[in-house]
Amino acid sequence: RRVPFVRVLGREYPTDRMTNISPAIVGKLPLKLHSRPNHPLGVLRSFIESHFPSYSRIDCLDSLSPVVTPKQNFDLLSFPKDHPGRSLTDSYYINKELMLRTHTSAHEVDIFSCGETQWLLTADVYRRDEIDASHYPVFHQTEGARIVSADSHGMDQIRHDNAELEQHLRRSNIIIQDVPHLSATNPCQPHHDPEHTKLVAANLKLSLNSLILGLFGGRLNAGEPLRVRWIEATFPWTTPSFEVEVYFRGKWLEILGCGVIHQSTLDHSNVPNKLGWAFGLGLERIAMVLFSIPDIRLFWSMDPRFRSQFKQGEITTFKPYSKYPACFKDISFWLPGDTTLHDNDFCDLVRDVAGDIVENVKMTDTYTHPKTNRKSVCYRINYRSMDRSLSNDETNVLHAQVASRLRDEFGVEIR
Ligand code: PHE
Repeated sequence: RRVPFVRVLGREYPTDRMTNISPAIVGKLPLKLHSRPNHPLGVLRSFIESHFPSYSRIDCLDSLSPVVTPKQNFDLLSFPKDHPGRSLTDSYYINKELMLRTHTSAHEVDIFSCGETQWLLTADVYRRDEIDASHYPVFHQTEGARIVSADSHGMDQIRHDNAELEQHLRRSNIIIQDVPHLSATNPCQPHHDPEHTKLVAANLKLSLNSLILGLFGGRLNAGEPLRVRWIEATFPWTTPSFEVEVYFRGKWLEILGCGVIHQSTLDHSNVPNKLGWAFGLGLERIAMVLFSIPDIRLFWSMDPRFRSQFKQGEITTFKPYSKYPACFKDISFWLPGDTTLHDNDFCDLVRDVAGDIVENVKMTDTYTHPKTNRKSVCYRINYRSMDRSLSNDETNVLHAQVASRLRDEFGVEIR
């Protein structure tokens, strides 16, 4: 039943057993929300870029395609062969040789190889996921990195910058909950000088604390300090690694991952004598709280009531317009003998049929027949348009399409 080719961004690619990219996803690839000046993602991107004025802006429109090899996305970054991110249930594959990048880190080696030493890249990334108000299979990240020569000259540069950043932060109303730069569980790399690594980790933390202060600091109640929490983390291509959380409007919000880049990644980039850091920050998460955007689908809305609310250079509060009524529909079915249907497979199918009219999808029940051992599942789909009122008939048509495609593509028996 497979089509022999898929057309992605104007090019045809042969399909194979790995192909799992759906037309709904292919349609998102040209949209480039982060490059629209009056879109919240474009506004946030520009804000971050203006915070790092001396960093090169890598323009992914010209050179860096979202279609990458698993080598770029995983291998060059030392992901183990059995890492779950590689699976068909988590990532979109065009075929066994090509996939959609799951993070902007997929371009680190390309960019360092071009000789860039401090840079920012904002781009769309793709991960198979469930459907709810904060998950969408396409989202946006800003990757930032800085490398300096791994010698006394590079370290002097870092020391100098650290002193300046420390002074700036000391004068600000910010409370930072830190972790040590290095620890037994977050060690220095074998070939690195621990003193150098500590300086670089300090530069990473100071640079990001200052960005976070710029983003959130001015939006708190008068006198309220900004609270930032650093946590140890692990990423296959950085050590030590960290995650950062920010306390904003009563919640801890995880906003980025970062760390000191592995020697092997720098070796792959032909810059073996450098030392430095990288971070990757999720734009939707941050934009949703900064602009008070309640549903991640809104970023994709063409409704002028959404689009007209944002302007270049301004972080403003979104004023919600009235919601149209929701319509729940359940679907229960028997899975054929040995088949499994991953939640992400079900959600991709529903998205392909109904697009952004699906607000969320929940598995509400599973049942195994005691005699036949057959498994039955029930999902509840919540249909709601953000832009108009849906008729019950229209929703029924969509729901029937979900049922018939489930039958055709997964051989299920609708109950
Ligand atoms: N790419 C990581 C993610 O998507 C974030 C990251 C970037 C971590 C750079 C370390 C260094 O979660």
